[in-house]
Amino acid sequence: MRWQCKSKNSSPASSRQVSAMTGFGGSGKTTLANQVYQKAGRLFNCQAFVSVSQNPDIRKILRSMLSQIRKEDFPISRSSDEAWLINSMRDFLKDKRYLIVIDDIWSIQAWKTIKCALLENSCGSRIIVTTRNVSVAKSCCFPRLDLAYELRPLTEADSKILFFTRVFGSVEKCPLHLNEISTEIIKKCGGLPLAIITIGSLLTTKSDSREDWVRVRNSIGRGLEKNPHVEEMERILSLSYNDLTLQLKTCLLYLSMYPEDYEVQMEDLVRR
Ligand SMILES: Nc1ncnc2c1ncn2[C@@H]1O[C@H](COP(=O)(O)OP(=O)(O)O)[C@@H](O)[C@H]1O
Ligand SMILES: [Mg+2]
Repeated sequence: MRWQCKSKNSSPASSRQVSAMTGFGGSGKTTLANQVYQKAGRLFNCQAFVSVSQNPDIRKILRSMLSQIRKEDFPISRSSDEAWLINSMRDFLKDKRYLIVIDDIWSIQAWKTIKCALLENSCGSRIIVTTRNVSVAKSCCFPRLDLAYELRPLTEADSKILFFTRVFGSVEKCPLHLNEISTEIIKKCGGLPLAIITIGSLLTTKSDSREDWVRVRNSIGRGLEKNPHVEEMERILSLSYNDLTLQLKTCLLYLSMYPEDYEVQMEDLVRR
């Protein structure tokens, strides 16, 4: 991703830019957006990272953005009105260089509402949107369609690093007798980080016997190699779910009550 930023103290007459990242679920959109957000944040006057998901509560999202950019909490009683939230955001952002990540947005309608709060200024502000939907991405970037990026799958070399680091701690620690079967498993993951991490995690619970690994390889289809189909990813996820102990299955089911990318409070989970 091309990324040009001057220092936050310089004042270029630079228009606000919206870039969008598309890719399948598990291709690494949130991870990459978060990396950029963490690394580039210091170049901006204020920043916010919000997760939108399929059924967004727009007021909650606007309230979260406002709290993050102003670094203060807003009680629901004071900030339940959408128009008030939008106007407060616009007023605060008018002379700021801001960085906003809008993660996992699914509809053009949600974008249209959120966009109202993100005042267009000439301070060099940046918005990064992630979505699985190419039409939504284009709509966010419009008319700068050149700022809509599609995430590519990991190369085989990067897939190997991710896989071996997850399973053995480093590439060098892979035992010789598991090298070939590992390469076959990695190929089947089609460069999809979520598949690599999930299968890698499953294999950490297996013995070092080649037979165990062959069984895992045989239970993954070849779908991801050609195209990261949802069905194939579901198969990999259910494979590792079925392999969990009963207690962990229960724990995981409790986790499924929270929305995607939600920050889970440990006490809350333990209480349940
Ligand atoms: N470039 C990468 N290197 C290592 N791990 C990655 C990379 N991209 C994604 N991951 C891992 O893959 C999983 C899915 O990534 P995520 O960013 O949530 O995908 P998406 O947002 O596209 O659904 C996460 O566990 C993440 O840590
Ligand atoms: Mg995501």
